[in-house]
Amino acid sequence: MDQRHQSHHRPQHTNSNHHDNHQSTFKRDMDDSGRGHFQHKRFRPGQNHHPAGPSTPPSSPPTQSLSVQRQLYERDFPLYKQPVEVGHFSLDSERRFFNDARQLRYYVEPEKSCPNFDLRDGYRGRFVKRDDRVKEKLDHILRWILANRSKLQLKDTAASSSPCALGVDIVTWRGHLTKLLTTPYETREGWLLAVTRMGGTLYISEVETEAARRDRENRTERHEEMMYWGYKFEQYTCADDAQSLPDPGGVVNTNEAFCTVVQTRLAEHRLLFSGEVDCRDKDPKAPSPPANYIEMKTSLEISTPKQRSNFHRFKLLKWWAQSFLPGVPRIVAGFRDHDGVVVSVETYHISKISQLIKNETNCWKPTVCMNFCCEFLSFVKSVVTEDNPRVVHLFSWDPHRDVTYSIHRDSQYSFLPDWYVKEMTSSTSRETHHQHPPQI
Ligand code: A3P
Ligand code: MG
Repeated sequence: MDQRHQSHHRPQHTNSNHHDNHQSTFKRDMDDSGRGHFQHKRFRPGQNHHPAGPSTPPSSPPTQSLSVQRQLYERDFPLYKQPVEVGHFSLDSERRFFNDARQLRYYVEPEKSCPNFDLRDGYRGRFVKRDDRVKEKLDHILRWILANRSKLQLKDTAASSSPCALGVDIVTWRGHLTKLLTTPYETREGWLLAVTRMGGTLYISEVETEAARRDRENRTERHEEMMYWGYKFEQYTCADDAQSLPDPGGVVNTNEAFCTVVQTRLAEHRLLFSGEVDCRDKDPKAPSPPANYIEMKTSLEISTPKQRSNFHRFKLLKWWAQSFLPGVPRIVAGFRDHDGVVVSVETYHISKISQLIKNETNCWKPTVCMNFCCEFLSFVKSVVTEDNPRVVHLFSWDPHRDVTYSIHRDSQYSFLPDWYVKEMTSSTSRETHHQHPPQI
């Protein structure tokens, strides 16, 4: 089944600041990382182009940039296949990888519509925070791929002619795709995405921008605490198994994660990506994953029309993009006051969000998000033609600019680890090909 969205909104012209979003409270300075960008002929979205293959003359490196202007992407919603879960993995309290669902939690609906959860509780004494200076890049996904190669199809003849072909075009984190989807509407935070082609597959891994590093290193105490609130809400509403209740007296440890791995297709791009899932429906009769997954969110309670409008225009965009990508159908949102007390809980169905924002002026459109992402992936395919784990094309975007790129060989940006490259380029004889792949 295809996921298709129709939207009927007026074109948008301006974008204003995010409202009370603790994830966006920092001003972005000009990028000063000194990256060398090639300035280029523009890649025209919407035009027919053919992903460059081995036939591309090596003497003519692509010299292009990609425009992010919204109006270029206002066309029919592209084909987006219903995402299929091909696996999952867990990260434990010490961030160790397990090829299983041990960290999957079960949603327990709050008893009252005004639950009065105190999100500040435990911040001082019962909180273990993941070390966000450690950059894990794609490592956990790569571990999952090595442990599950037999689940990834090799039916595609072109792809399987290469010794390390996975049968997908793109491997990345869901969060990186979320950033791409929201780029046409983003006015504050740029991004850097490192891309390497190996075995015909493009691996996309984020690089922290200088501005993001500065923001991370200069967070206020209030911001640090507010980042905890979202995890605390999860603890109030999620249990370790279908029979038990949440344990708000326990420790919140943000090293722990359950991640789904899904396969899908965006137009001609076959995608394999992973994303963290907060919990599942505890009803044993609930549909199979990812349709039984639930995303938990918190947000400031809405008291004025302006706040409602900002919530629709900025926060729902991020919420929609994050859950739409892996096919997670529901968000449970806890609305809190300024002191971190949850005053109401509401469910949002992803399929109804475009209806919900329909009457909002200057609002975002799902089709623009998906068409931009699709064009970006086509752009990347046409640029990154050298199949070499030591080569990184660094795609760079800053608000109000085009996407550009620079090329780096054997640099600090190389991100495919030796253990992965070795395993993928050694014999494929261990491969078991007899399992039926999901139909994409
Ligand atoms: P909220 O979602 O309630 O804001 P996710 O919702 O993606 O599962 O993330 C869980 C929580 O991690 C968030 O809860 C928030 O508390 C924290 N978080 C995630 N990304 C963040 C960011 N970029 N900045 C600050 N906090 C973040
Ligand atoms: Mg969440």
